[in-house]
Amino acid sequence: MSIHSKTPTRKLTNVLVTGGAGFIGSAFVRAAVGEHWFPGKVVVLDALTYAGNFENIADFADALTFIHGDICDADMVEKTISTHQIDTVVHFAAESHVDRSILGPMVFTRTNVLGTHTLLEMSRRLGVRLFLHISTDEVYGSLGEEGSFTELSPLNPTSPYAASKAAADLMVLAYARTYGFPAIVTRCSNNYGPYQFPEKLIPLMIIHALRGMELPVYGDGMNIRDWIHTRDHVGALRCILSSGREGEIYNIGGGNQRRNIDIVRAILRYLGKPESLVRFVSDRPGHDRRYAVDSAKLASELGWRPVVPFEEGLRETIEWYVRNEPWWRRVMDGEYQEYYTRQYLKR
Ligand code: NAD
Ligand code: DAU
Repeated sequence: MSIHSKTPTRKLTNVLVTGGAGFIGSAFVRAAVGEHWFPGKVVVLDALTYAGNFENIADFADALTFIHGDICDADMVEKTISTHQIDTVVHFAAESHVDRSILGPMVFTRTNVLGTHTLLEMSRRLGVRLFLHISTDEVYGSLGEEGSFTELSPLNPTSPYAASKAAADLMVLAYARTYGFPAIVTRCSNNYGPYQFPEKLIPLMIIHALRGMELPVYGDGMNIRDWIHTRDHVGALRCILSSGREGEIYNIGGGNQRRNIDIVRAILRYLGKPESLVRFVSDRPGHDRRYAVDSAKLASELGWRPVVPFEEGLRETIEWYVRNEPWWRRVMDGEYQEYYTRQYLKR
């Protein structure tokens, strides 16, 4: 658990977690239910897209309510919030993968913009007391050699994914300002850890290495991301739920800037696989060069700081994928094969 020094102040009872069967949402649900963070109900609303998997939270099935539904469905969202007397919404549900947003952007606008707006409007009408909107550092665009994103950095999204998240952030902040609606926006850096869908860099490279397949590194491999373990992200969200200020934005960063190629090499080394498996492929269109997140506001206001050392978290993550081959084989069936073929075979 990440460190936070301030006494929790907010009393939250019945919580709706959207996207709670996805990668980060399920980490939140496992911690919240497993550690009894909320005295009332934890209700998970998830459309179970290709990225959602009930298995990720199945160990806690008896202690939560699961609703299979779409955040764009206003009637269902309204019924869910009123039936379960939801006072808190933690909103993870999204289309989350940049490469998919380049191949097919419309669903990103539908879920990330329209879906968020639908959820927000129903939450406002029904008097939800706290709406925590989970966003991303990608809304700030790309950095050069120096500096990091603060909450005051201008929005400059480059991919359709990032643009859809920025649009959603603006709507949430507009509700806070216009209606005094109690919302908070968080912007986190790249997450890693168990249960991440194997289209993203770290799990994809682990699985390709395990299978002896080529590891497709985009461009020159020198792009930099700021990595954070899901345990630290979820710990930050808990602090913000307890004591974050309404109407505010909080950046959440891992403080682990790494070049892609260095991560790929570390994975190969750990698994005892040859570097000859690396294949430099054509670059992602509009590829952001570097992200780095300044979390000073979260540290000074709420006393949070990340505690998982990157090399340890990466090792633990690699071992999780080694142990959980049946999990990743199942999620990679079907639709993923079609995506994979479109994404990589053309490069
Ligand atoms: P994910 O793709 O693993 O999970 C998304 C979840 O949302 C899935 O369970 C999916 O079924 C569900 N979902 C998608 N469309 C839906 C809809 N219309 N209605 C209901 N449920 C729907 O994503 P993730 O990586 O866990 O990201 C979660 C959130 O965190 C997203 O909002 C993302 O933008 C944000 N974020 C992610 C990262 C990261 O590194 N992965 C970093 C910062 C912020
Ligand atoms: O920064 C936060 C964001 O991090 C989140 O908002 C997104 O939801 C999440 O997907 C992630 O976006 P990225 O595009 O940074 O993550 P991805 O894992 O797709 O790529 C990480 C880096 O690795 C990026 O520079 C592209 C590169 N890459 C990725 C893949 C999948 C490769 O070189 N090869 C690959 O096959």
